[in-house]
Formats: sequence, C-alpha cells, structure tokens
Amino acid sequence: MRLRIGIVLSGNKPRQSLPYRPQEIGRTGQPHHELIRQRRYTMNIRSIAGIIMMAAIIWSPAAGAQGNADRGRQLGYTCLGCHGIEGYRNAYPSYRVPRLSGQNREYMQTALRAYRDGARPHPTMQAQAGSLTDADIDDLLAWLDTTATVQDQATAEQVASLDAAAVCVTCHGADGEGVAPKPPTLAGQHAEYLEHALHQYKNGTRSGNVMVAFAATLSDAEIKIISDFYADMDGLKTLEN
Ligand code: HEC
Ligand code: HEC
Repeated sequence: MRLRIGIVLSGNKPRQSLPYRPQEIGRTGQPHHELIRQRRYTMNIRSIAGIIMMAAIIWSPAAGAQGNADRGRQLGYTCLGCHGIEGYRNAYPSYRVPRLSGQNREYMQTALRAYRDGARPHPTMQAQAGSLTDADIDDLLAWLDTTATVQDQATAEQVASLDAAAVCVTCHGADGEGVAPKPPTLAGQHAEYLEHALHQYKNGTRSGNVMVAFAATLSDAEIKIISDFYADMDGLKTLEN
C-alpha cells in the first residue's frame, strides 16, 4: 500500500505513456497478460492518489493576507529566544527546537494557528501563540518570509534503497511541488525534532492532518533513518538574531 501510493504520486513528472495500446504491445515485447496487469495496477494506484489529494485539498488552510514585516520583526523578538539560538533544546521531552529560517509560510501559518487554537500540543508554543490574532500571525509570517525559502530536494532515486521513504518524497521532495496543503520543508531540520514530530503523528498526539496515516506505517527504526536522511540535506537554518 505504502509503496503503491508512492509510485503514483511521483508520477507528477511527465508520465511515460503506458504500453497498453495495441500498436505498442509488439514493440515493448511484453506478454499481453503482463500489460493488462500493469494497467489495472496503475489505475488502482491512481485512484488511491486521487483520494489522498482530495483529502489534502480539504485540509488546505485559507490563504492569509500579506502582513507587515516590520511589525512582525518586533512581535517576533521573543521567538528568537528559542528559534534564534543554534541548537537550543526543548527541556522535556528533550529535542532541539525546530529551525524556522527557510520554512514555508503556509505551513507556519497552519502551525501557529493550531498552537493558538489548542489543536497542536506544546505548552510553550501554545502560550506563545495564545494571544496572537490572525493579523499578528500574518505580520510574523511576513517577517519570517524575509528569510530564504528552501525546498526538499530528495528524489525517488535517492530513496530507492529506502522503501519507507518512497512515499515521503512524493510530497516532501522535488516532486512535491504544488501539493496542497503545502507540506513543511524537512531538509536541514534537526533530526531529533523530525523524530519527535513523527512519533507524535504516530501516537496520535499531533493529529487532524495527512501525516497521521503516513507515520502509522513507520517503525521506530525507519523513523530514525528517515529523520537522519532529511537532516543531512542542505536546507532550513536557525533564525538569525
Ligand atoms: C521557549 C521557546 C520558544 C519560543 C519563545 C518560541 N518557540 Fe516556537 N517552538 C518551540 C518548540 C520547542 C517548538 C516545537 C514544538 C512541538 O513539538 O510542536 C516550536 C515550534 C514552532 C513552530 C512549528 C515549527 C514546525 O516545524 O513545526 C513555529 C512555526 C514556531 N514555533 C514559531 C514561533 C514563533 C513565531 C514564536 C514567537 C511568537 C515562537 N515560535 C516562540 C519553542 C519556542
Ligand atoms: C500527501 C502528502 C504527504 C506525504 C506523502 C507525507 N507528508 Fe509529511 N507532511 C505533510 C503535511 C501536509 C504536513 C503538515 C502536517 C501538520 O500540519 O502537522 C507534513 C508534516 C510532516 C512532518 C512535520 C514537520 C514539522 O516541521 O513539524 C514530518 C516530520 C513529516 N511530515 C515527515 C514525513 C514522512 C517521513 C513521510 C513518509 C512516511 C511523509 N511525511 C509523507 C504532507 C505529506
């Protein structure tokens, strides 16, 4: 199941035409029953992908206003106390505070609203976001947007030997351009934080989003391998003070 979804979603690239038109059957030299099997398989995985994409669109947050970066910088002064210190740790459980420099705006808007509304757990971030209005959040995002935007560049080739990650790169990878809601960038994020987030999706403490289904399929060992894989890539940075 996991792999099947991966195969289709990575078909965002120009899809090679399928070898089931009669005139092509002779050329590919494959037995007829084999071609029919491929065709059924492809239709099957396409419809699964369709369901996922539909679900993803339903979850997509309302587009925000542009915001005022100067006001955001002032509001964001306190954020730097944690997100602006390289390697700063969350006390309990112990993991590194996520990097935000280069993270995409749409995802950070979802995250801040979720903390504010109590849908995403974390006492400190809930307290930080608790008093923010939508306009405050847009101002903060306008400021954060002045840091470079980066993208996950992981490709299907890179994860060829890493089955568990095949489905991930279809959204969190070069092929994930245009997926809605826009997934967070993972490249360059602290491995400890990625692990923490995946365990939260898996154990249901961070729920109500597409990741719950994907994390459920991962073993602890796979979570560790995938987290290290993304953390090793160039990408997100700690905010500059
Ligand atoms: C006391 C330290 C601290 C302060 C201050 C703080 N944060 Fe955080 N922030 C964290 C931690 C720890 C997390 C990860 C929480 C979790 O596990 O969900 C986090 C998560 C986030 C995330 C989600 C990142 C992701 O990849 O999912 C965003 C966005 C964010 N913070 C923005 C802000 C903004 C904006 C401010 C200032 C208004 C701020 N934070 C202030 C510690 C802090
Ligand atoms: C259908 C697209 C899609 C697929 C496939 C997908 N993700 Fe995600 N991922 C998302 C979205 C959307 C979010 C944001 C969810 C939220 O708001 O908490 C996310 C969030 C995450 C986060 C949290 C990052 C942060 O900053 O807090 C991690 C880690 C993650 N995904 C890893 C993975 C891994 C590993 C896989 C493969 C097993 C995977 N994802 C497959 C769309 C996807």
